Amino acid sequence: MENLAQSVPPILTVEDVHKTYRDGETFAEVLKGISFSVSAGEFVAIQGPSGAGKSTLLNLLGALDRPDQGKITIGGVELTSAIKNKTIELFRRDKIGFIFQNHYLMQEFTVVENVMLPLRVQGETYSAAKEKAASLLERIGLGHRLEHFPSQISGGESQRVAVARAVVKNPPLILADEPTGNLDSDNRARFIEILNKLQAEDKLTVIVVTHEAELAMAASRRLLMRDGMIE
Ligand SMILES: Nc1ncnc2c1ncn2[C@@H]1O[C@H](COP(=O)(O)OP(=O)(O)OP(=O)(O)O)[C@@H](O)[C@H]1O
Ligand SMILES: [Mg+2]
Repeated sequence: MENLAQSVPPILTVEDVHKTYRDGETFAEVLKGISFSVSAGEFVAIQGPSGAGKSTLLNLLGALDRPDQGKITIGGVELTSAIKNKTIELFRRDKIGFIFQNHYLMQEFTVVENVMLPLRVQGETYSAAKEKAASLLERIGLGHRLEHFPSQISGGESQRVAVARAVVKNPPLILADEPTGNLDSDNRARFIEILNKLQAEDKLTVIVVTHEAELAMAASRRLLMRDGMIE
């Protein structure tokens, strides 16, 4: 019988990706031929020592930078070509939700407005965007913080708002770089609980770079990066 899992094309494929940074006269090859793929609905953790190239790889997946060699395809879009033909802005807007170590919320907007922004940029009306953003914030226990400004909520709450902002447009891929790096253990546990809940309920595809065993253990698959390669 045909294996159903194999007949579903992966949402992400990375094929023999290389990246070298140039610093004056010296060249450092940071990614030395990375290949892997991720299926829709997977929750993948990328672990590895400092300097292994994890953030470099994540930046390539989010098309914030481009590989020197190799191919990255996300939801049928090949990133290097999309960068060349200038469709990459739309790709970033619609296909990727980013969660960084620092939440980077917009200080002059309220919590609910911060979460509405990705929808407004996609052309949703104010009221439709507000309804979606508010209901998502309620699902993650922040219903009582909608009209607060980022300066009026805690760091842990801010990072949970950042999760809502990343997932609200329902992008095919969520990328997170050390999302719990600045959180204490209580807030880390709550962050993981929320990411887990949304990932499972909304069948999100998530790639998270982390040093934290607790977060890595929440993933359905772990990849170990060492010295520019995936082991
Ligand atoms: N823009 C850049 N220019 C030059 N070198 C860079 C640049 N970005 C990263 N590097 C170098 O590339 C290597 C990999 O960096 P990267 O940030 O990808 O590591 P990492 O695995 O994310 O580490 P960490 O766990 O500390 O965040 C490091 O040696 C770093 O100094
Ligand atoms: Mg890093």
